[in-house]
Amino acid sequence: MNHPKPVLVSGIKPTGDLHIGNYFGAMRQQVELIKEGKYRPFIFVADYHALNSVHDAEKMRQRTRELVLAYLAIGLDPEEITCFKQSDVPACTELCWIFDSITTMPYLKRAHAYKDAEAKNQEISVGTFNYPMLMAADILLYDAAIVPVGQDQKQHVEYARDTAEKFNRTFKTDIFQLPEPYILPDVAIVPGTDGRKMSKSYGNVIPLFATTDELKKTVMSIVTDSSGERPENVYALHKLVRSTPELESLYHEHRGNYKKLKELLFEDLNQYFTPIRTRYEELRNDPQIVEEVLEKGKREARRVSEKKMEHVRRTIGVAL
Ligand code: TRP
Repeated sequence: MNHPKPVLVSGIKPTGDLHIGNYFGAMRQQVELIKEGKYRPFIFVADYHALNSVHDAEKMRQRTRELVLAYLAIGLDPEEITCFKQSDVPACTELCWIFDSITTMPYLKRAHAYKDAEAKNQEISVGTFNYPMLMAADILLYDAAIVPVGQDQKQHVEYARDTAEKFNRTFKTDIFQLPEPYILPDVAIVPGTDGRKMSKSYGNVIPLFATTDELKKTVMSIVTDSSGERPENVYALHKLVRSTPELESLYHEHRGNYKKLKELLFEDLNQYFTPIRTRYEELRNDPQIVEEVLEKGKREARRVSEKKMEHVRRTIGVAL
């Protein structure tokens, strides 16, 4: 089969319940981009990346299923994408090792994730230290042209680019294509209920599949810290689901009435997410869907990645 379309690669770790920060920070853009039909999408569950923090087999399984269902619920068509688990592609960890062998420790020590852990005096697993190389393998195996990610992952895509260049230079080849990050700047940072960036680790998330009651409770609990006419964090969230001119007039009309503004935000979020939630519940009742989608994705991801690896093995001289 000939695929003239440029490849799009993206992954999400099954590390926790999905929240609207995941959705607006990465998932929505992925779906929009994919629906444009210009790319050949490889979307995967980054379970081996998650293994650095998830050490509970049942949780790993459950979150993996939820993630696949979520992608389907927000509009990905399994016929049009290759959706798979990272761990179903042995070439990924194999290529990671090859990248490890041409990468220096000082270079990896410059990664934000590593520096943050070090600044907090945390013990860091070798897998976390090596995270950017596994991610480079994820991206480069499929010749990704474009990698849609949240702002926080930009550096990792740069690591993948650098690694492609380093490999090509080292082995005097051009087999790895240089990927580009794709970031929508105005929605890249989604504030959580305390005004900080929405993140599972801050405990400030608005869940993607919350019931109406849960959603209301969470939205009404948003801490508004600005003392002006308009609570900036509420506004920032609202901007994700309503146009700016509409919001300008709403926030003018109800200026200073933070409670009312939060109620309006709740209603808009609820309306926005109801169809997604309904679809998610429907899919969840289908006992086979996740296995079917992942099985198909596995076959295709393995086919493409194995072909690439044969090329890589010859290039580095382990294939005789
Ligand atoms: N590191 C990404 C995150 O935490 C997940 C990820 C792993 C990924 N491999 C990838 C994203 C490859 C894009 C491409 O969100």
